[in-house]
Amino acid sequence: MYKKLLSHSAALAAMIATAFFTSSRSAHAVTWGADYFTNVPFTTQDGQTVHFFDDLLKGKRVFINFIYTSCGDSCPLETARLTQVKKILGDHMGKDIFFYSFTVDPDHDTPAELKKYAETFHTGPGWLFLTGKKKDLELVRKKLGQAATAGQNQVTDHSTSLMIGNEATGEWLRDSSMDNPQYIATIVRDWLAGAGRRETTGSYANAPPLPNYVADRGGYLFNNQCGACHTIGKGDGLGPDLLGVTKHRDAGWVSAFIAKPDQMLSKKDPVAMALYAKYKQVKMPNLRLTDQDVNAIVRYLESQTTASGPGR
Ligand code: HEC
Repeated sequence: MYKKLLSHSAALAAMIATAFFTSSRSAHAVTWGADYFTNVPFTTQDGQTVHFFDDLLKGKRVFINFIYTSCGDSCPLETARLTQVKKILGDHMGKDIFFYSFTVDPDHDTPAELKKYAETFHTGPGWLFLTGKKKDLELVRKKLGQAATAGQNQVTDHSTSLMIGNEATGEWLRDSSMDNPQYIATIVRDWLAGAGRRETTGSYANAPPLPNYVADRGGYLFNNQCGACHTIGKGDGLGPDLLGVTKHRDAGWVSAFIAKPDQMLSKKDPVAMALYAKYKQVKMPNLRLTDQDVNAIVRYLESQTTASGPGR
């Protein structure tokens, strides 16, 4: 039984998190209000002024992260992964669940820059990109436990943490925006729904079956690490559709590109340069995969291409 639970890491994490919420609620009967969070003003990507507590937090379930638009590869990856969470949340977005991405680089990230960034990632309603005075942005980072520590660069050393909270119940937790999107969506939609609205599957016997790809390491990695930007046979996303890529490109090139796209670009590999010119809004990130993981993903891409029939 114990072994089985370990293999269902999300289920295990669910149990841990539930235990955390139960104890955290009894420990903090009071919630954190405007006196703690303050009402400092920020400007949205549409140029609207909003106040931190009254407009952004009060009575809402929220995700908050910190980004900057000129960031190399971790922020685009973070944002792309959060768009997967957004898709899972569907109609909740902008109704009872909101995403806030605060810039840590207000000198560069004007509302217009943030708007361009939001459009690149198709972020949609309920997701605000916010800028403001440097000292106010730093204050909010500090209030959420995300401030840069001594010796860190205020801008480039921001973390990929995600703060998730329900202001009304005072429940807050930190997760990684690189976590499984289904899991992140479940936390905010179900566990943080507030008293009486918490949804539960009841028994593990009623839990939905794991998707097929979980059994296949390559498929699992693809869905977790690549699915935010790529499809296989469903059209271009932020990056190209990868159906058939293992056939029409050299096998060594595909593996090398998946492993170190940044180095291929800096070495001025002609194919990498052409792709970058075509998909220039986002750069393929170096996901620091092991050779084994790259091989597993390539095998998965090959199997999906074969499964789609001849001619690709
Ligand atoms: C943040 C978005 C993003 C993520 C995540 C991402 N990619 Fe990409 N990928 C791109 C973009 C954009 C390109 C086009 C090249 C460029 O602009 O750098 C690309 C190009 C590629 C190419 C070359 C396609 C071709 O037509 O030759 C391959 C192969 C590829 N990616 C595989 C992967 C795999 C495998 C993963 C997961 C391990 C992954 N990518 C994760 C954005 C992403």
